[in-house]
Amino acid sequence: MIVLRNYEEHVIKSGNHVAEYILLHRSEEFEVVEKNIKKDALVICRTDETHDNMNFYYIVSGSLKNADTDIVYQPGSTLCFKELETAMVFEVLEDTKMIWTIQKPLYDKLHLENNAIMQVLDQIQQKDAYTKEHTLRVTSYARQLAKLCGMNGREIYDVVMGSLCHDLGKIEIEDSILNKRGKLTEQEFDVIKTHVGYGYQHANEYLTDGQAEIVYAHHERIDGSGYPRGLSENQIAEGAKLLAVVDSYDAMTSDRPYRKGISVEDALAELKKGIGTLYKKEFVEVFCHWIENEEIKTTEVI
Ligand SMILES: [Fe+2]
Repeated sequence: MIVLRNYEEHVIKSGNHVAEYILLHRSEEFEVVEKNIKKDALVICRTDETHDNMNFYYIVSGSLKNADTDIVYQPGSTLCFKELETAMVFEVLEDTKMIWTIQKPLYDKLHLENNAIMQVLDQIQQKDAYTKEHTLRVTSYARQLAKLCGMNGREIYDVVMGSLCHDLGKIEIEDSILNKRGKLTEQEFDVIKTHVGYGYQHANEYLTDGQAEIVYAHHERIDGSGYPRGLSENQIAEGAKLLAVVDSYDAMTSDRPYRKGISVEDALAELKKGIGTLYKKEFVEVFCHWIENEEIKTTEVI
């Protein structure tokens, strides 16, 4: 499937904010789609469960690199695959145009799903500018952490989609509570907590069950102290445990109108303090090691 990102770019035609899809030809057997993808986007390709979907790419201009093999695809390069055990991830090195021929019609689904998610994020931005930017940063962190933890392509893809939709439910929360300056009352916090259930309902429209579960469980904590279901340990999906770490990190380090974000060092210390009670040890350790040692590319995406 595809990927989005680069939330500063605006897509004029169909598609999402980083990728534009133009249907060139459709028959009963296949579709030909022109795909334009912005520099710094990440493209994830995967085959569906039936593994019978032939994909053929022809690079017209620009270049992209297979993130696992480092093979660079330039104008004239072709790529053909039918079965993928795990997702293939490409880093888009410069604005890239490719022709994509696909055996099983996907254009409408792809176009609608990606657009629908970005549209909800745009609507949320009208209410609360923080949430969309937070979502895109969290998605980027989550993808990287999933990769560093050795998750396979499908698991990484599920984490990405779950992260992208994790706070969609905030669209249902009243502005006065969402943007309140100052401490929330207990009642107001109860209202904020409902974003998880609403988000799950939204996510069910666009995501698989496994991806939607990540949305539903992203505020659960391994000692059972989270919400909305008070799940613990193995009851919580792995993707949700991973998302909890990066979501908390971004929330702690972000400046909000009512408080300044804490430093990276302090946020990492907080995460470490929560090992075994709030967060899964492996995810905290790998994330902290990465943040402490790598320069974070905030332009990278999903
Ligand atoms: Fe949330």
